[in-house]
Parts: sequence; C-alpha cells; structure tokens
Amino acid sequence: MSMLDHQSALIAAARAARAMAHAPYSRFAVGAAVLDEQGRIHAGCNVENAAYPQGWCAEASALSAMVMAGGRRAVAVAVCAVAPQPVTPCGGCRQKLREFAADDCPVWAADESGLRAAYTLGALLPHSFGPDHLPE
Ligand code: THU
Repeated sequence: MSMLDHQSALIAAARAARAMAHAPYSRFAVGAAVLDEQGRIHAGCNVENAAYPQGWCAEASALSAMVMAGGRRAVAVAVCAVAPQPVTPCGGCRQKLREFAADDCPVWAADESGLRAAYTLGALLPHSFGPDHLPE
C-alpha cells in the first residue's frame, strides 16, 4: 500500500471512529486512528465522563486498541475533528504517541472533508522524553 492509500484509509478510520465518540459534555467529537508496524489500523474515539477529568482522548483509545491487538509501533496517525483550526493531539496524547512512534511519524489532522494539515510527531513534540532515556 502506498503512503497515500494509508493516509486515506487512516483518515476514513478516524472519521468512522469520530461517529462513535462519547462527548456529551464538550460536544466535541474526536476520532483517531493509528497504523501499526504490521500495516493494521486501530481506531478510537474520545470517551468523556460526568466526572469531567476522568474522560480520555480519541488518541488514547486508538493506542489502547493497537496495544491490545499486539501492535507495538505506530507508524502513522490520523485525528478527525471539526474545528476552525486543524485539530492536533493534545500535549498528553503527544507524549502517549511518543511511546510508540518516532519523530518522523506523520500526524494527519482531518475533518469530515478529509486532510486539513500534516505534521510529524517530532514537530509537535520536539526534544521529547521517551523510552530511550530510561535504562534497559
Ligand atoms: N480531544 C481528543 O479526543 N483528542 C484531541 O486531539 C483533542 C481533544 C477530546 C478531549 C475532550 O473529550 C474533547 O476532545 C474536548 O477537549
């Protein structure tokens, strides 16, 4: 599969995941999808909670799905949400992604119409702390 095929498949998965969001408090529905090292796509949505801080982001859901399926590396990421500016992963999710992705991992910001902006994880989270900092 070409990078462009992966991009459209990942964005479609993030868009479908967005439709499943549980976001009754913010009403800000987000879907995310990660492509793993085996070429598989894992998706997730944000899951809010009446105890507001207990909610979590779409990226966290997608990463959880990846790990549960045996994926260990994220090689591309797509986020789908509708906002005036392209929606990028929050700071905490950038760090969560960093656990499984390299600096050159593409992060595609999409809305219901498709790609809005393209970044890399390294651009979104420069000089990051990661697994390599810890002793074996
Ligand atoms: N949210 C995500 O799920 N991912 C992002 O990249 C940005 C923010 C969620 C968290 C919360 O449920 C809602 O969007 C509003 O912040």
